[in-house]
Amino acid sequence: MTSPRTDTPTGEPLSVPAGRDAGDPAPGPEPAGAERARLRRARCVVCYWTPAGVFTAHPYPHGHPVALDGPAATVLAAFTDWTTPGQARRMLDGAGHEPARGPGDEFTETVRRLREGGLLLAEHTERAARDADLAARWAPWGPQAPFLHYTTQDFTPPPPPSPPSGPEHTTAPDPGRDADARATGNGGRTGDGSDADARAAAVPAPLFHSHPEADRVLLPRPLPDLNEPFGRVLYRRRTHYAFAPDPVPLETLATLLATVFGPTAFLDAGPHGTLALRTSPSPGALQEHSAYLALYNVEDIEPGWYHYNPIQHSLELRTEGCTRQTVTAACAGQDWVADAAFLVVLAADLRAPMRHNPDPRSYRVTLLSAGHLGQTFALTATALGLAPFQIAADHDTALAAHLRIDNLTRTPTHLLGAGLPGDRPDPRLIPAGLHAFPADPPA
Ligand SMILES: Cc1cc2nc3c(=O)[nH]c(=O)nc-3n(C[C@H](O)[C@H](O)[C@H](O)COP(=O)(O)O)c2cc1C
Repeated sequence: MTSPRTDTPTGEPLSVPAGRDAGDPAPGPEPAGAERARLRRARCVVCYWTPAGVFTAHPYPHGHPVALDGPAATVLAAFTDWTTPGQARRMLDGAGHEPARGPGDEFTETVRRLREGGLLLAEHTERAARDADLAARWAPWGPQAPFLHYTTQDFTPPPPPSPPSGPEHTTAPDPGRDADARATGNGGRTGDGSDADARAAAVPAPLFHSHPEADRVLLPRPLPDLNEPFGRVLYRRRTHYAFAPDPVPLETLATLLATVFGPTAFLDAGPHGTLALRTSPSPGALQEHSAYLALYNVEDIEPGWYHYNPIQHSLELRTEGCTRQTVTAACAGQDWVADAAFLVVLAADLRAPMRHNPDPRSYRVTLLSAGHLGQTFALTATALGLAPFQIAADHDTALAAHLRIDNLTRTPTHLLGAGLPGDRPDPRLIPAGLHAFPADPPA
């Protein structure tokens, strides 16, 4: 029987697993009677093969990944429920496995290592109780959501920035069509730690993404005023589900896009190069989000799927034609969306946050920044007299296909939209105030 390798998949030695708590002291030499103490596999574990092909068990909330060989994984599987090592040993024996016997043998060493890695938990310990508690509380979303949540909970600072160099050209062009990759030469990023990778990482990202080959509509200027008092806009904002049949004026759409997605200032960020700022905050000012659109009831513009180019203030055509049925289908059958006028698909270029900080926590941060853009969109649309909404129950894969984005490096994160408001207020709305919850009349 081979013991598990208690190194991380990257080959780093794993000393004491993080997250060990006081209720589960570090297992040292197996005490007398250890064969009778009951253990079970942690409920909160996700297993995967690393890119290097190492089979890995990753306990959460705070455990380290542990590389396992096949026999160690078999031992771990023998502890699906509370089991003594003696029982597990007999079970494996009965199933034709041949664990060695006696103190200090490989089976015992494997069990010890699995405990040390937080993969086997001892009965009546605080750690085992918390593992069961966490698994039960997150059960409806498990294991995907709790794994993402807890393995990205604590911030790791990014590595120090390398100074920008001039555009580099690599021999392997990006198979994608994105102009930014071509413009900066970072399309040759190979992900294999090669020189091309290092050079690509040193090239500052472009300020905004564009599709230079696309047919385009230059949007109108000057732009309508946004002078309604902030307090009124804030309290007037609602998510709308009913819309007027009239098309949204192109000037209104143009103002909305420029205000929410256009640059408001630029920043000399030294080794990070030049950064752009918007009306919404953005982590590291990376502006990793682009605005893509489905237009189906906007004045003077053909229905279709577009990309907003914020530098040129233009719409770049991605796919001609956009029907209300297509929009409803992409919104998972929410048919009220078909009565609106347009959707805005926020799509993040994940390369920017990955370059900025390889800690997977950056993924969460990217989603947070989509929320900021969503709120600025809702308030700006309200101020412009539009009826905004946002949607989470949609089909990102369908949206990506209509927009011809690869859904790999550039991927939808959030869906917004608007139309002209319907002429009747939502009858379900009760303004907050004394009359919202009148006291029961005395009996
Ligand atoms: C991130 C997010 C996703 C949402 N997704 C949907 C959705 O898919 N369908 C829907 O009908 N409403 C959706 N809503 C709208 C909420 O139901 C709405 O905000 C809530 O009822 C409160 O109303 P209010 O926005 O007018 O304050 C979403 C809201 C947010 C913030």
